[in-house]
Amino acid sequence: MAWRRRKRPLAVLADRYALYQAAVQNPELEVELFEQFYREAYGRRARPLTLREDFCGTAYLCATWAVSHPRRRAVGVDRDPEPLAWGEIHNLATAGPSVLRRVRLIQGDVRTVRTDPTHIVCALNFSYCALRRRRDLLDYFRNARAAVAARGLFVLDVLGGTATLDVAEDVRDIDGHPAIYIWEQTRFDVLSHHLEAHIHFEFLDGSKLERAFSYDWRLWTLPELTDLLQEAGFSEVRFYNEVFEEGDDPEYLSPTGEYRRVTEMENQESWVVYGVALP
Ligand SMILES: C[S@@+](CC[C@H](N)C(=O)[O-])C[C@H]1O[C@@H](n2cnc3c(N)ncnc32)[C@H](O)[C@@H]1O
Repeated sequence: MAWRRRKRPLAVLADRYALYQAAVQNPELEVELFEQFYREAYGRRARPLTLREDFCGTAYLCATWAVSHPRRRAVGVDRDPEPLAWGEIHNLATAGPSVLRRVRLIQGDVRTVRTDPTHIVCALNFSYCALRRRRDLLDYFRNARAAVAARGLFVLDVLGGTATLDVAEDVRDIDGHPAIYIWEQTRFDVLSHHLEAHIHFEFLDGSKLERAFSYDWRLWTLPELTDLLQEAGFSEVRFYNEVFEEGDDPEYLSPTGEYRRVTEMENQESWVVYGVALP
């Protein structure tokens, strides 16, 4: 009797961390932005060498940082051992022994972890929004402040815009994967700015990885973050917004990947701004 292999749904075969990295992370761009923010804070020739990536998950950024220069070192902090172990195999070990030696992963809480001062401390993909109480975010910012070197920076990204303050859905292709990425905001409370959102992946064969990642956030505003960062001891807070230009379709402006410092900004449907705090 001929044996025929039953096709398994793509969703069963998929790796949610690989999909997440491909869908929402761009660590090469972030390394370039850190260099730009650092030059603009400390002079044209200043180069950051050390990084602490808080809420590091799979430590994709730590690995990219270490790959970007042989003298660069990174430490990644996350409380969940699962993404750390995944990242150690898929991001660090695959980058080779030199990268593996120059990146240290710590399983711990970003509010209490102690590390040597680094040129950059960062909290990306809005992960600090998981700290929903003001005092928890302030504890975290104080701890981050203690870890920023004298000539260092704390960098965080901020999500906002009219569409983020509501239930909503955003769908995109994922380069190099037979899947689409779906960001679904299922609940937003105006009183508390509590946002519940999920990432789903849907595959070419119709199978789905529902709620591959779920978030229970407080959507902090830029002025709240500025106040908290200053209260935590940072002397100055700068914001960088992406430059958009006219593309083929006159109805829409296209993102350029270039970020400029702003002191005023019009609201849009959705935006991501980088906050840069100086010690
Ligand atoms: C959305 S992932 C961020 C992954 C990656 N940094 C990025 O930019 O996409 C958020 C991570 O924060 C971690 N996390 C949440 N609260 C934490 C805390 N208090 N201390 C350390 N890690 C925390 C979770 O375990 C999770 O891996």
